[in-house]
Amino acid sequence: MTDERPYSPGLEGVVAAETALGYVDGERGRLLYRGFRIGDLVEHGTYPAVANLLWTGEWDPGHRLATTAVPEAVLTALQGLPDDAKPMDALRTAVSVWGATQALAWPPTPEQARALTAFSPSALAAFARLRKGQQPIDPDPSLDLVSGFLYQLNGERADPATARALDAYFIVGAEHGLNASTFTARVITSTRSDLVSAVVGAIGALKGPLHGGAPSEVVEQIHTAGSPEHAEEWVRETLAKGERLMGFGHRVYRAYDPRAAALRKVAESMTRKPDWLDLAIAIEDVALRVLAEKHPERALKTNVEYYAAPVLMGVGLTPDLFPATFALARHAGWTAHVIEQAGANRIIRPDARYTGPAERDLPA
Ligand SMILES: CC(C)(COP(=O)(O)OP(=O)(O)OC[C@H]1O[C@@H](n2cnc3c(N)ncnc32)[C@H](O)[C@@H]1OP(=O)(O)O)[C@@H](O)C(=O)NCCC(=O)NCCS
Repeated sequence: MTDERPYSPGLEGVVAAETALGYVDGERGRLLYRGFRIGDLVEHGTYPAVANLLWTGEWDPGHRLATTAVPEAVLTALQGLPDDAKPMDALRTAVSVWGATQALAWPPTPEQARALTAFSPSALAAFARLRKGQQPIDPDPSLDLVSGFLYQLNGERADPATARALDAYFIVGAEHGLNASTFTARVITSTRSDLVSAVVGAIGALKGPLHGGAPSEVVEQIHTAGSPEHAEEWVRETLAKGERLMGFGHRVYRAYDPRAAALRKVAESMTRKPDWLDLAIAIEDVALRVLAEKHPERALKTNVEYYAAPVLMGVGLTPDLFPATFALARHAGWTAHVIEQAGANRIIRPDARYTGPAERDLPA
C-alpha cells in the first residue's frame, strides 16, 4: 500500500485553480484585483464598483448596489435564535434560509451574486437589532450598500467619512486568492451545487479562528498597552512572554500588507477617529522596530487586521460583529470565484494517502 505520490499537508504550494480575479504578491506587498492595485481601488472606487469588477471584469466606478429587504422566512429564523447566538452563526443561517426562498438555478451568474451580496448586510443588521430587542430597519434604496448597512444597523445615516471608511474596509476584504473559505466555495460549486450553498460553506470556513482574523484581539492588545509612553515596555514584555503581537506577520506577505497601508490612510482621515488610533500608530512604530530586532531572519510587518481594528471600532461596530462584517465584505470575492469555477468546472476531488491498517480479516 505504499503511495509515493507527493503529499502536501494543507495543500501548501499546490496550484489547485486558475483565477483571473485576485493576485497576491507577498514578496513585493502587492494585491491586485483583475490587475488593478488595491490602493487605487480604495482611492477611486466603491465596494459595489469593486464587486462588479470582480463579477464581470468591467470597471464602472459609478456602479451602484443598495441593500435589499429581508424576507419573512429569514426574519422568523433570526427571531428563533438565542440572544447570545454568534453573529457568524446568524449570518450563515440567514443566508441558508434566503437560499431556500430563492431556488437559484445553475449556473451561478453575476445577478445571483449581486442579489446575495445585497441581502446579507440587511440580514446581519436585522440580527444585530433583534438581539437587542429592537425592530429591524427596512433598506433605504437611495443609499449605497455600505451606507445602507450602517443605516439598518444604527437607525441613523452615517456621516460620509464614516461610511467611506467602512466602504474601504469592504474593498480590501473583498478578495484574497485561494484562501480556505474561497477554496471551500469553489469545492462546493465544483459539484454543481448552487451559489448560496457555496457561500454558506464559505461562511462556515471563515468562522474558524485560524481564518476569520483577529481585529478584535488587536483592540484588546491596544487597550492593554495603555499609552504611547508604555508602548515599548508593553511590546517587549509581550514578546518576552512568548506571545504574538496581533496584526503583525503574515503567511504570504513579507512586505507591508498593502491592505493595511490603504486602511491606515482611511483610519487617519476618519471624522470620528477612535481615541486610540494615535496609540495604535505609536505601538505600530515600536512593534515594527522590536520585531525586526528579534527576528532579523523574517520580515514581520503590519497586516490588514491591525488597521481594520480602528476602522471597525471607529464606525461604531462592536468587536463581536467584526468577523461577520468581514464575511459581508468577502461575499464579492466568494461569489466571483463561484462564477469563475462554474465557467471552467471540473469536480474538485483530490486523493488521500492511506495510512490505516493493511487488509485483514474481521475478528471471529
Ligand atoms: C499570521 C501568522 C499566523 C503567520 O505566521 P507564519 O508566517 O507561519 O509565521 P510563523 O508562525 O512561522 O512565525 C515565524 C517566527 O516569527 C514569529 N512571529 C510571527 N508573527 C509574530 C507576531 N505577530 N508577533 C510576534 N512574533 C511573531 C514567530 O514567533 C516565529 O518565531 P520563532 O521561529 O522564534 O518561533 C503569524 O504572523 C501570527 O500569528 N500573527 C499574529 C496574528 C495575526 O495578526 N493574524 C492575522 C493575520 S492576517
